[in-house]
Amino acid sequence: MQTGTNSSGPILVTGGAGFIGSNFVLEWLRHVGSPVINLDNLTYAGNRENLRSLDGDARHIFVHGDISDEKLVGSLVREHRPQAIVHFAAESHVDRSIVGPDAFIQTNVFGTFALLQAARAYFSELSREEQKQFRFLHVSTDEVYGTLGPDDPAFTEETAYAPNSPYAASKAASDHLVRAYFHTYGLPVLTTNCSNNYGPYQFPEKLIPLIILNGLEGKPLPVYGDGKNVRDWLFVEDHCSAIRAVLERGRLGETYNIGGNSERANIDVVTTICDLLDELAPDPEAGSRRQLITYVKDRPGHDRRYAINAEKIRRELGWAPTEKFETGLRKTVQWYLDHREWVENVRSGAYLKWIETNYAGRTA
Ligand code: NAD
Ligand code: DAU
Repeated sequence: MQTGTNSSGPILVTGGAGFIGSNFVLEWLRHVGSPVINLDNLTYAGNRENLRSLDGDARHIFVHGDISDEKLVGSLVREHRPQAIVHFAAESHVDRSIVGPDAFIQTNVFGTFALLQAARAYFSELSREEQKQFRFLHVSTDEVYGTLGPDDPAFTEETAYAPNSPYAASKAASDHLVRAYFHTYGLPVLTTNCSNNYGPYQFPEKLIPLIILNGLEGKPLPVYGDGKNVRDWLFVEDHCSAIRAVLERGRLGETYNIGGNSERANIDVVTTICDLLDELAPDPEAGSRRQLITYVKDRPGHDRRYAINAEKIRRELGWAPTEKFETGLRKTVQWYLDHREWVENVRSGAYLKWIETNYAGRTA
């Protein structure tokens, strides 16, 4: 009988200094409370400031290292004996995968492979009782399913994989490896495929924080193509609670789609942010932020629409999102207004160089 991860043992989280990973670590310690070993190699997207509130908290053990280092992962799991591995670490930005796919193949494919190898060796050394508890949860994306037309039904767990960007292809490859380790080696895996997240601590290369910060500073608000591409937005705390539900009660070897039931066209997201900024941080001299909207050259291979059918996780695990898009977006805008120091710290020289690389050639 499967028992699922209980609330007492330590867990190993990879990529816990990134956007979703750091939210997950904070939420885990708030809701569950057992120790977290956080393995992160602090790429441009990893930020220890996200976890500053845990300074001095013995339940959080940060390890600066790479998931591709199988020896390091092996020694970490033997030392701390986690009852689960929750795998967030990845290169995650589609535009970066178009400019330079190498790092995506290295971390998302080879890194996941190394992590699986270390997990498999560790699992084989556990007692029967410990094996029953152990879980390897792989955090993946809806982008593996490709793109939808306006009237297509939403992605289910049965939708065929059809990735269109190097990022999506690398995540699809990692999903397949995770599945194979269940069927071939009996590793107790779970995979989640989630839609677009937003909320505190998101690196401002992604649409929502980029628009908030550019809007605050009176800079152009770049909208790719015709602005009518659709994403299904989920508040990050809802994603974290879904992952906890899958960890506790998910069926081994299964995949679970996670979504926010909040499909929005990009242009509608951008105008909503403009209006929130006008309300929460008015700049009467400059006028409405909507004037800053600038249509720019489209992303190559830009998926038109994503939509998630999250019926399986609702039916089997009783999970549903709790935050509405409008209230979640308001909280997010307010968070960026209240955390100017965090914003200044992440916008280093490397960030400015990326903005130049991605937007210089995209004239209106
Ligand atoms: P992020 O880019 O904000 O964070 C990634 C983290 O992984 C960073 O802390 C980085 O330092 C770390 N990392 C990268 N390479 C590593 C390596 N080789 N070894 C150790 N650590 C490494 O990403 P995110 O948006 O928080 O996404 C987290 C996960 O969730 C990813 O697997 C992503 O594919 C998935 N996901 C993201 C979204 C979204 O909307 N952001 C939606 C669905 C799924
Ligand atoms: O669907 C889940 C995925 O969502 C995750 O797997 C990825 O890690 C995450 O980055 C996100 O991918 P997207 O490509 O959908 O997110 P992004 O914020 O980059 O873009 C959202 C939409 O906004 C997309 O249609 C492209 C568009 N866009 C993006 C940027 C950065 C713009 O119009 N202008 C921009 O400047």
